[in-house]
Amino acid sequence: MPTPLVIDTDTAQDDCVALLAALLDPAADLRAITMVAGNVGFDQQVRNAFLTLNVAGRLGEVPVHLGCRAPLTRAWVSAEDVHGDGSGGLSMDRTGLEPESEHAVDALVRLAAEHPGELSVVAIGPLTNIAMAVAKDPDFARNVGALYVMGGSNNGRGNITAAAEFNFYVDPEAAKAVFAAGFEVTVVPWDPLTLRQAVFGQERLDRVAALGTPLSDFFTDVCAATLEFDRSVGIDGTTHPDSLTAAVLLHPELVRRSARYHVDVETAGELTRGYSAMSWGVHGLAPNATVIEEIDAEGFFAYLSGVLATPTVPTREIRRSG
Ligand code: RIB
Ligand code: CA
Repeated sequence: MPTPLVIDTDTAQDDCVALLAALLDPAADLRAITMVAGNVGFDQQVRNAFLTLNVAGRLGEVPVHLGCRAPLTRAWVSAEDVHGDGSGGLSMDRTGLEPESEHAVDALVRLAAEHPGELSVVAIGPLTNIAMAVAKDPDFARNVGALYVMGGSNNGRGNITAAAEFNFYVDPEAAKAVFAAGFEVTVVPWDPLTLRQAVFGQERLDRVAALGTPLSDFFTDVCAATLEFDRSVGIDGTTHPDSLTAAVLLHPELVRRSARYHVDVETAGELTRGYSAMSWGVHGLAPNATVIEEIDAEGFFAYLSGVLATPTVPTREIRRSG
């Protein structure tokens, strides 16, 4: 049976690829897309989500719910320097396409409560909506069957600061609350996992481009700004932590090694805001998360290539700027 899931996303670049996987993989039953403030301007993220639904040929089939437009207590921090507008300058006519009137937090609470223990949530942006859902419904963490989080680093380097990965840095209070809430949580960290095993270099990017599908063209466009940024900071390719997070939920056989950790998030430090303290079992702390340590990297690339090879028919014309 396909896995029922919600993707909570700050849609730009790899968030779009994660959505494609959840929209097109027969192993997935995507019940909703919930939007949270993160990578780029909130309204642009919403445009990117609809654009992704269109290129997948699934416009109008999956509800889009708007969530928190700012972190719990702090000002929003953008990653537009990394992602541009997050769509590679693509656009489309959105006439008649509206998000749901129900707030994302309410949708998360409702969908989890409808079938307790069955819904998976893939959280690939700052954890603001998830923390709000915890605050709103004391049963939310119990009702969610599995929470997959892209965030933090496992005793490795950050990306937005030396100490912190972007999603946890933007809303550290939310991330801290989520790890204390009692979810069955699995973490896909930035370093070392993403940096070592989910970077697509030029040869792989060429192989994707050669697929010649609407999805492979879309992939090339949405990844272009990130590729340029990554190269400027010494990463030789595009980074795919969000699509990896969706992939390991849908295909656990891609995971080669994982371990139980106690994960907590720094909210008070001056230099370490959003730092993820991942304790590996020798510090007397009870584990609260499974952290993925190694994947089948070739298998992950083959999986995404398969998704991008799907011959979809976008229903609305996709415009390219420039
Ligand atoms: O640090 C990586 C995360 O932040 C990903 O979710 C990506 O979308 C990014 O900007
Ligand atoms: Ca993201």
